[in-house]
Amino acid sequence: MKRMDQKQIDALVAAAASVRDNAHAPYSDYLVGAAVLATDGRIFVGCNVENASYGLSVCAERHAIAAAVAAGCKKFVGVAVVTQSDPPAAPCGACRQVLAEFGDFPVILAGLDGSSQTTRVRDLLPNAFDAETLAEASGNKSGRTS
Ligand code: THU
Repeated sequence: MKRMDQKQIDALVAAAASVRDNAHAPYSDYLVGAAVLATDGRIFVGCNVENASYGLSVCAERHAIAAAVAAGCKKFVGVAVVTQSDPPAAPCGACRQVLAEFGDFPVILAGLDGSSQTTRVRDLLPNAFDAETLAEASGNKSGRTS
């Protein structure tokens, strides 16, 4: 499976909207739902889970990716993120980095009114620090002086 058709996009957005209802966001009152479509057709979801120790809060996108990886999926066709922002919000920097770990695929940003726009992981995080960066540097000297 390479490109998403409209039916798949709708299913992905619906899954993200549905899991958003489970978000634990008593501090920000900003609920986020994310759903990733794996190349084998499975959909994995995640919502943001906040904590009284604020820095421990985890974003929806990273939860969805972690759920997919835990189930054995590391190849994705797309991700949908549903927020209450208008226009719909794009993933935070940390989530962009985590999405980029798994390649370049469409990111559907959807709002509560059904509006959406589509971007891509590489457009959200150009020039990402990734596995290739490390591989290209693997032969280089560390530069350590001691
Ligand atoms: N949040 C996400 O879940 N994903 C993002 O990409 C941006 C922010 C969450 C974190 C926090 O629980 C709330 O939204 C407000 O920042």
